[in-house]
Amino acid sequence: MCGIVGFIGKENAVEITIGGLEKLEYRGYDSAGIAYQTNQCLTVCKEKGRVSALKNKLVDAKSSIAIGHTRWATHGEPNQVNAHPHLSLSGRFVIVHNGIIENYQKLKFEYLDTYTFKSQTDTEIIVNLIEYFSKTLHVEEAIRETMSLLEGSYACLVLDTYNFNQIYFFKDKSPLLLGRGPKGFSFSSDITGLIGVAEEYAVLEDKLFGVVEENKITTKDIIGLPKKIIFSPIAISEEEIDKKTYDHFMLKEIYEQPMMIRHIISKYFKGDEMQISPKLIHHIKQSDKVNFVACGSSMYASYFAKYYFEKLCGIPSEVFCASELVYSTPLISKRPFFIFFSQSGETADLIAVMKKVKQQKYPMLTITNTMESSMVRLSNYALNIYAGKEIAVASTKAYTAMVVTSAILARSISGAKTNLKNNLKGVSLAIEKVLENKEICKGVAKEILQCNDLFYIGRGIDYWTALEASLKLKEIAYIHTEAFSSGELKHGPIALIQQNTPVIAIITQEGTNQITRSNLAETEARGAKTYVISSKGVSTPEDDIIIPNVAHYLSSLVSVVVVQLIAYYTAVLKNNDVDKPKNLAKSVTVE
Ligand code: F6R
Repeated sequence: MCGIVGFIGKENAVEITIGGLEKLEYRGYDSAGIAYQTNQCLTVCKEKGRVSALKNKLVDAKSSIAIGHTRWATHGEPNQVNAHPHLSLSGRFVIVHNGIIENYQKLKFEYLDTYTFKSQTDTEIIVNLIEYFSKTLHVEEAIRETMSLLEGSYACLVLDTYNFNQIYFFKDKSPLLLGRGPKGFSFSSDITGLIGVAEEYAVLEDKLFGVVEENKITTKDIIGLPKKIIFSPIAISEEEIDKKTYDHFMLKEIYEQPMMIRHIISKYFKGDEMQISPKLIHHIKQSDKVNFVACGSSMYASYFAKYYFEKLCGIPSEVFCASELVYSTPLISKRPFFIFFSQSGETADLIAVMKKVKQQKYPMLTITNTMESSMVRLSNYALNIYAGKEIAVASTKAYTAMVVTSAILARSISGAKTNLKNNLKGVSLAIEKVLENKEICKGVAKEILQCNDLFYIGRGIDYWTALEASLKLKEIAYIHTEAFSSGELKHGPIALIQQNTPVIAIITQEGTNQITRSNLAETEARGAKTYVISSKGVSTPEDDIIIPNVAHYLSSLVSVVVVQLIAYYTAVLKNNDVDKPKNLAKSVTVE
C-alpha cells in the first residue's frame, strides 16, 4: 500500500524514479508525485490519479537525485494536495512516506501547534518534526529524534534542500529495500521497483536510519550506533514483470498457472521425494493443532490447507481471519503451530497477529511468494510458493500456488506413499484445457454483465472455491456477489433470489453432487438463472462448463480457473481497469 522510490547516482534520477513508480503502481494508484533537484533548486510535482499523468508533466526533467511516491489514500481524500511528496513548512525538507502514523494528532498538538498544514496527511507531521528538531540538532539526529516519537508504521525518504547530495531514509514496520548498482543507489518498497536499476538489494531492518550519497552508504540504529546491512543479488528479471502480448497482467497470470504448477513440482520434488525441511515437518508433527492465518484470497486458499492437514495428516486445524484474530482471544491448544499465508508477505493484519504469536513463543511458518518480506523475517520457517511475481491486484496464480504448496506440505507431513506429483501434473493439463475453452467463460460473462447481484454456491471444497469466485467478481467486475454453502440457502439467503438472479453452482465432488443440484433447482424454481460448473465425472450434458477430471482433492485448482476467467471477462466487458480495480491495492500494509 503506497509505493516509495528514490535514486541518487549517475543516471537521470527522474526517469529512474518514474520507471520505479510505474512498476510499483499496483501498490496504490490514487495519486503519484516526485521531488528532484535541478541547479540546486527543488521541484515537487504531483498529480491525482495514475503515474502516467505525472510522467506526462516531466518529459524533459533531469536530475541526479529524486524521490517518488504512488499513493493509496489513508488520511485525507485522494487529491493533489494530499499526494506525496510533502514539504516542511519552510520548504527545507521534502518527504515521501509509506505507512501510517497512529499518534500524529498527539504529536501535532505537542510539538507543532504553531505550524499550519497544507494537507490532511499524517506524513506532514513527520517532515515538520524533522524541521522542528533540526533547528537545534544535526539533521541526522533530528530524524532519529523524530523516529523515536513516531508510533505506527513508516518507510520514509527525505531530501534536505541545504544539501542535495544525499537521501535520508528510515523505516519501521513498512517495507523498504535499498538497491546498489553501477548507476547508483536506489530505493523501493518492493523488489520490482529495483529491477533494471540495481544489481543487488538489501532488505532494511526496522528502526534503521541511514543516508546515501552517490558513492557512500551510512546506516545506524535509532540511537546512532552503526548497523550493517547485507546485500544479495537481484534474481528477478525485467522479463518476469513484462505483460508480454497479454491485454492484462491478470490474464497473463491466469495463463501462467499450468507452467507455474510444473515449476512448483520441480522445486519441491526430487524424483518422487518431496523436499521439505525435516525439521519443519518434525516441528509441525509435534503440534496438537495447526492454526492457519490469512486474509482475502489467501485465507480462502488456506481452507484447502486445513482440509489437507486434517484429511492427510490427521492434525486438527483451524482457519483464522487475521484481522479478526488480532483483536480476539481464542482458546489456544497446548502445542499450537501457526501457519501464515500471504502472497506479499507484508500484510499488516497478519504482521499484527505474528507479533502477538511471537510474544507467546509459538512456532510460526510463513507460506509466501515474497521470501524477502517482513513476514518471513518474523517467522521460524518459510516456504516459497514459487508463483513468480504477481502484478495484477486480484490474486490468481498466487492463490493456486498456495493450494498446491499446502498439498505438498501436507503430503510431506503425512509421509504417505503418494501420487501427488502426477496428480498435480494432471491438474496442469486440465487447466490448459480450461484455458483452451475460455470462450465458454466469456459467454457466461456476457450473460451476467448487467446483473446487480449474483450468487455462487457449492458444498465442502466447492464452497471454498465459491468464496474465492465471489471475491474475484466483486473486486474486479464490481458486481455484488455472495458465496453460499448450497445447504444454507434455505436458511435465509434464498429470500434474495429474484427473477433472473444468476446463481452459479460449482460441483466437482461425487458426494455432494446431487444435493447441490437439488439446492440449485430450488433457486431455479424461484426465478434464478442458473449455471453449473462441474467436473466431467459428475457432470450432466446440460451443464454449462464441464472441466476435466483430476484427483478429487485437487479439483478446485481447475474449477477456480473457470471462475477467474468469468470474473476477468466480466470486468473486461464492463471496461473496468482489470489490473488496478478501484479502491484496492496489492500489498495491504495498513490494518
Ligand atoms: C484478492 C486479493 C486479496 C489478498 C489479501 C491478502 O484477489 O488479492 O484478497 O489475497 O489482501 O494479501 P496477501 O496474500 O498479500 O497477504
